[in-house]
Amino acid sequence: MDPTNIYADPRTKQVADDFTIDQNWQDYTAEQHETWDILYKRQLECLPGLACDEFMNGLNALDLGAGGIPDFDKINVKLKKLTGWTVVAVPCLVPDDVFFEHLANRRFPAGNFIRKREQLEYIQEPDVFHDVFGHVPMLTDPVFADYMEAYGKGGMRSLGFDRLKALASLYWYTVEFGLINTSKGMRIYGAGIVSSRSESVFSLKARSPNRIHFDLERLMRSDYKIDDFQATYFVISSFEELFRATVDTDFGPLYERLNPCFDYTATGVLESDRVYNRGTQEYGRAGGRKRGVKPV
Ligand code: PHE
Ligand code: CO
Repeated sequence: MDPTNIYADPRTKQVADDFTIDQNWQDYTAEQHETWDILYKRQLECLPGLACDEFMNGLNALDLGAGGIPDFDKINVKLKKLTGWTVVAVPCLVPDDVFFEHLANRRFPAGNFIRKREQLEYIQEPDVFHDVFGHVPMLTDPVFADYMEAYGKGGMRSLGFDRLKALASLYWYTVEFGLINTSKGMRIYGAGIVSSRSESVFSLKARSPNRIHFDLERLMRSDYKIDDFQATYFVISSFEELFRATVDTDFGPLYERLNPCFDYTATGVLESDRVYNRGTQEYGRAGGRKRGVKPV
């Protein structure tokens, strides 16, 4: 316990070493529950036909649309039975080592706060809607659940290599912004996309972004956007492909050969890329979100 810790629970001014706090479910206001309901309804209107089946099935299995911000204890009864994962509440983003250790033990740290009404369209800091609606359904899929645990273990190991940015890029382009090419067509599985109405449409339909087949090392060498829609989305063929490519690769030699900075920009297409769509990049070129550019 460190009472000066900036991550401290505002109510107790204390935070545990693993940064977990009580969700304090009983303290959410009616307005906060309603914010969840509004966001949930909006996503359910657009996600069928865009999000992959694993995500949609997970949403149903966990009953996340029962009304209001879900109680983590109730989610955990179901989730634990399905894949052994649990959701734990944290007050905000947690340090890398803490994050990795949670994942390695099949615990997903979720922010317990919800965004303000004026942030319905976009927030940079992950709130309970992004964390729970976006991430938790995929944890009901056995292969994806194993991938997330392996990622946590890989993260703990990576701390000895000083190549955290490359590993973060892998998370970003898969867990947060991944697309999957299914027999029904291209679909979303990334949590950062499914929790955003505008990016759900942009990622699959817009002319602007590149859509390129997943390649582990290429992706770990690529920069990404943290404050706007992605300029490139990487596409897997199956969760098995993602799991095997990452688990069967020893990242040790890979970290050794990586440069300390990214080799590729977020927008570029390489000759070696397997390209589904070469984007126009017109959205980013026009200035993106900060200029209020229409997503195209
Ligand atoms: N195979 C990686 C390593 O050797 C660990 C890892 C697995 C990382 C799955 C990400 C996802 O470090
Ligand atoms: Co996230």
